[in-house]
Parts: sequence; structure tokens; C-alpha cells
Amino acid sequence: MATLILNASEILTMAGPDGPRAGKDKGTLGLLRDGAVLIDQGKIIAAGPKPVVLTNPAAKGAKILSAEGRVLLPGFVDAHTHPVFAAPRLDDFEGRIAGKTYAELAQKGGGILSTVNGVRGSKEADLTAGLRMRALDFVSSGTTTIEAKSGYGLDLDNELKLLRVMRTVSSRGPLEIVPTFLGAHAVPPEYKGRKAEFVERVCATMIPRVAEEKLAAFVDLFCEQGYFDLDDLRAIAAAGAKAGLKLKVHAEQLSRMGSLGAALKLGAVTADHLDCATEEDIPALSASGTVACLVPGSNYFLGKPYPPARRLLDLGAAVALATDFNPGTCPCHDMRMIVSIACTQMKMSPAEALVSATINGAHALGLGATHGSLEPGKAADIACFDAEDHRELAYWFGAPKTRWVMKRGEIAWKAI
Ligand code: NIG
Ligand code: FE
Repeated sequence: MATLILNASEILTMAGPDGPRAGKDKGTLGLLRDGAVLIDQGKIIAAGPKPVVLTNPAAKGAKILSAEGRVLLPGFVDAHTHPVFAAPRLDDFEGRIAGKTYAELAQKGGGILSTVNGVRGSKEADLTAGLRMRALDFVSSGTTTIEAKSGYGLDLDNELKLLRVMRTVSSRGPLEIVPTFLGAHAVPPEYKGRKAEFVERVCATMIPRVAEEKLAAFVDLFCEQGYFDLDDLRAIAAAGAKAGLKLKVHAEQLSRMGSLGAALKLGAVTADHLDCATEEDIPALSASGTVACLVPGSNYFLGKPYPPARRLLDLGAAVALATDFNPGTCPCHDMRMIVSIACTQMKMSPAEALVSATINGAHALGLGATHGSLEPGKAADIACFDAEDHRELAYWFGAPKTRWVMKRGEIAWKAI
């Protein structure tokens, strides 16, 4: 039976042109005030002005769901997370507050490699149980789809283990997880001083195996001084392309090394972070099909300057917002918090931030045709928030406001 959602104060349909939203469309919400959404079999059949939707034959006899005067929008699409790990990094957290740098913390046994030790020592079942709990946190905050990166295993067996955990949790729902193979996240201890050999292992063995087992849609790397360089980027992109994996790049995060320009030449779907991108990088990004995936929660948590979001938007780049949820640099799963940070710290308008967190998040995952907006034929992934005006989503930061969340037409979470 179809379901008809009525009585929303605002419905943000995010309806608009195909492709990532940028330029004049960067803040277009497709806002309806007397609107309705009709769904059946997990998909949107119609979304528009109520009198128009009511003329749809499927509306007759549909089950009514009242939004009770609240705001509805597509479930958030969080296009950059690292959610499979064993333990939080509380020593790093406290050390950073006391003034230690990322490099100093890593030298003291913290950083990415401490999480790698935790993952290598964990059973798949325990990591699965952990991700399942985190998946509920995402959904209860209004997120219906995430991208998830491996990268805390750094050897074949442990990377495969992380990707299988994602597949298991995604297959049981309700959170949909798009997996990314991030084998080149750091050089593991057993390859210390032998980065080139590790990259060769990633390209020749790990990527083909991950692809053969259909465990990832994307390949990614941490392109950064002391981690992986532009030659590694080209090698990994080529191995990924050969195996059918699309490209994402952690680019210009801690330093500017030309990774954004290289990522554009390689046709990356997204270039992520971009904290150190400069004015001269922007025109090529705007002219490309690559989405700038910004993760300002990590800047907030680390107390670092923010990426140049305003300039990116004003010069026509397509911007997505994501959490970067991970135990080291952003232990925040809440896209509404990220939207709020984007508004107050990067001067994005609430409308721009919400577009970036939904339809542009979907495009950042190559899912723009099926996710991220309330348009006929798309997945009925909908979040309802305790607010009358969409700007409240960014305004009431830090307070839970989710009322209910629907994934593929089924209520996946509801406030009590
Ligand atoms: O996106 N940049 C590298 N990766 C993560 C941090 C991961 C970690 O510290 O565990 C990031 O910020
Ligand atoms: Fe990241």
C-alpha cells in the first residue's frame, strides 16, 4: 500500500537539474510549504504541491503519515567516513588538548597506527557489532546512506575483514553503506621505510582482490607528506581503474602538494578535505565533474583553519559536506552538527549546507540518480526533524531534533 506524507511545515525536495549542484543551483532546496510526498515500494512516486500529488491515482486509499508541522528532507548522505574501528583515541584527544601535534601523537604510539593495532587484534564479529551500534547513531541523526572507508587494517586480511564488516552491516540495514578501499591510508609498521613496496602490494594484490570480491566501489588514498605522494596517487588510481573502482582522494589536507590538480586529471569522483587548496586551484575544480567533499568537523575537532568553502561555492565548484567520522580527527556522526559548523565557521548559507549534505553527498558517491532528493523514482529515504523552518537544523546545534527517519519507505528510527 502507498503512503502519503502530509502536514509538513516545509518539504525540502532538493529537486533540480541532473548532476552535482553548483553555481546558481548551489542553494536550491525545492522548498514546498503546502506539499505532499507519495511513496510506494520503497520509492518516491510523487512529491509536490498537495493538490497536485492528491490527483495521483496511487494517493487514493494510501496510508496517511502526518509530519505534524515539521520539516522533511531527504535523509543525509554522508560521503566520507572511517567508521570501522575498535576503540576511541582518548589519549590522542587529551594529548592534543595539551598541545601535542599529530606527528608527536603518532610517535607516542597514537594516530592511525594505534587504530590499526586495535583492528588487527579484533574479531570480525566484534567489529561488526561495533559498526551496527554506530549505524544506529547515524540513522537516529537523520543519515540514511554513508560512504565508509577501510584503511585501519593495512594488510590484505585485515582490509578484507573491514570491508566485509561494512557489507554485513549494510546488508542488514537500515543504514546503506557504500564501501571504499583505503589501503594506502598509512604505511604499516611491517613496511616501514619501504613505501614503494607497500604501494606495489596495494596495487598488484590488494586492489584486484578487493574488486574480485566486489567489496568496494571506490579506491582512496591519503595523499600527504609523510604518507603517499603524487606518483602513488597515479599508480593507485590506475590500479583502481583497471579493477573497476572509481577514485576518491584525501587531497590538500595538511599541506598543499598538488593532489587536487592530479585528482582532477585522473577524473576523481571527489577530492576530499581541501583545507590547503588555494585560489588558483579552484577554476579547474569548477570546470571538472569532481565534487569537493568538505569535512569541517575534523577542522573543528583539531582546532585547525577551515577549507575555503565560500570561495569554492562562489567560483562555481560543487561542494558536498560529510562528517569524516573516525576515532582520530572527527568522532562525530551527526550531519546536522556538520551543517551547523559549515554555516557558522565556513559561512555557507543553511540552504547551501543542506544541499551539500543531501543531493551533493549523493553525487559524491555516484548515487545522484537514485538518492539525495525527493523526486519520482528515487529511494524513499526521508528524515523528519522537530523544526518548522529548515534553518533551525543548523541553528539548534548539539541538540537532538530527529523525529523519525525512513529508509526505502520503511520507518527505520523514531523518537519516543
Ligand atoms: O580523514 N586523513 C587521514 N585520515 C583521517 C584520519 C584518520 C585517523 O586519524 O584515524 C581523516 O582525517
Ligand atoms: Fe578522512
